[in-house]
Amino acid sequence: MLLEVTNLNTYYGQSHALQNMSLQVAKGEVVALLGRNGMGKSTTLKSIMGLLKPRSGKVVFDGREITGQAPYKIAQAGIGYVPEERRIFPTLSVMDNLMMGVKGGKIDRANPDAWTIEKIFDHFPFMKERTHQRGAHLSGGEQQMLTIGRTLMGNPKLLMVDEPTEGLSPIMVKEVRDVLRKISQSGISILLVEHNLKMAMSVATRVYLMAKAHLGYTGTVAELAANAEVRAKYLEV
Ligand SMILES: Nc1ncnc2c1ncn2[C@@H]1O[C@H](COP(=O)(O)OP(=O)(O)OP(=O)(O)O)[C@@H](O)[C@H]1O
Ligand SMILES: [Mg+2]
Repeated sequence: MLLEVTNLNTYYGQSHALQNMSLQVAKGEVVALLGRNGMGKSTTLKSIMGLLKPRSGKVVFDGREITGQAPYKIAQAGIGYVPEERRIFPTLSVMDNLMMGVKGGKIDRANPDAWTIEKIFDHFPFMKERTHQRGAHLSGGEQQMLTIGRTLMGNPKLLMVDEPTEGLSPIMVKEVRDVLRKISQSGISILLVEHNLKMAMSVATRVYLMAKAHLGYTGTVAELAANAEVRAKYLEV
């Protein structure tokens, strides 16, 4: 397993927001984490990333325990995190936004698998024409892509993306879906939080559905597709 999360418990003050949450992502796998509003999906990602310190439980990544470590250390270990709120640098150019994602500020030319600006342009062609434009001048969907591109520049082994299609037009949703597929084909594992069930089921092979603060159901996408009862119980219908 690339990511192994076992019995995480996270609190906001007295509120027990994550109760014995467990999930796994294998190398090369795309896994979706789904559930209604406020169930604890973002809390799960933040707890993995070290942005929230779990009170108990364990996060093992790539064979190493990383539970509650500083977020920058977890990023260095190889987890790229794209939060719900798009975090572009509005006054910086597209190019500078991408370069902000490079760990240590220098592209690793010695590593043939390392992400380069050219490789980013292959995945996101629109950026090539707009390298000098400010981040603020991109559309919402383009900003989302830029955040993903910037995160890839850090060469993650696992990409955790929190609701990348929130508020996007149907065309942009398809583009984000295609980009995630291509990223997955390049060998990166993905943990995807989504509200758009159709989109999630078209990129992931396994799903975890959250009930309030805990895991409600897990199975393959095919199993979920065949189970209307589970979908009605845990997801918007
Ligand atoms: N900073 C916070 N302080 C206190 N409670 C919080 C905080 N952030 C989230 N919560 C609460 O924790 C619960 C889980 O929130 P979380 O953001 O993880 O849900 P989510 O599944 O990501 O929902 P959404 O689909 O709306 O993004 C919710 O009840 C939420 O109100
Ligand atoms: Mg959320």
